[in-house]
Amino acid sequence: MEVKFSRKDDLEREIKELGPWFHNMRIGGIETAPNHFLGDYPAFKWARFKHVLPEDLEGRSVLDIGCNAGFYSLEMKKRNAGTVVAIDTDPHYLRQAEFAADHAGVEIEFRLMSVYDVAKLGQRFDLVVFMGVLYHLRHPMLALDLLYEHVVGDTMLFQCLQRGDVTIPELQHDYDFSEWRIFEQPGYPKLFFVEERFSNDPTNWFIPNKAAIEAMLRSSGFVIQQNPEREVYLVRRGQRSFAADPPPKIA
Ligand SMILES: C[S@@+](CC[C@H](N)C(=O)[O-])C[C@H]1O[C@@H](n2cnc3c(N)ncnc32)[C@H](O)[C@@H]1O
Repeated sequence: MEVKFSRKDDLEREIKELGPWFHNMRIGGIETAPNHFLGDYPAFKWARFKHVLPEDLEGRSVLDIGCNAGFYSLEMKKRNAGTVVAIDTDPHYLRQAEFAADHAGVEIEFRLMSVYDVAKLGQRFDLVVFMGVLYHLRHPMLALDLLYEHVVGDTMLFQCLQRGDVTIPELQHDYDFSEWRIFEQPGYPKLFFVEERFSNDPTNWFIPNKAAIEAMLRSSGFVIQQNPEREVYLVRRGQRSFAADPPPKIA
């Protein structure tokens, strides 16, 4: 017997074939990940900090790093962004992002590219969206340094998973070699190294506490403007002042 699909059935089938989805997108009224373990992700999170970006991006250029299915790229397009370039290392997620953008009727340039290769983009962007990627990297400081060096023109919207203490301690500029106790303070900047898996994900490597993530951003040359939600920061490109060991120049 010939089975006839309605357009909704076809769409549902295509969405299923493109799964599993991490982003719960709404495509033609269908949710792509309605049973996400975090809830309506990332829409519920976005609702908590979307006020920190201008409602009208007035044609500004955007780079979305680790775009996944393109939730943030599409939100930037809804806010009248100009060029949006979206990169990810996973072709599975890029296929989803292309599908979602096609359905939304918006033009986004998707590229299979790692954050470590952003110099190849050869331009700075008015806004860089770097959400939920840093803890997936084995070289988080290198990534932040490369973003500062090559692509952040003005502002970066940033999020990183955090664990551990959330206090920001008052620290001296230097400590004597004999110092021991300061490192035992829960709020001292710390990165927890995950050798195997966290949340059943072998790509979680370094999970910072709050003081560490703020110190890492500053150390790479970013100035924290707003922290609307525990894990989310709006930062500006500032002056970088390395004491030593500047980051490698990558052509
Ligand atoms: C937790 S998801 C975050 C997705 C989205 N940015 C968000 O905040 O909802 C992490 C994404 O980063 C991508 N990713 C992991 N390593 C990457 C790398 N080296 N360069 C670019 N993207 C990467 C993954 O494929 C995945 O899509």
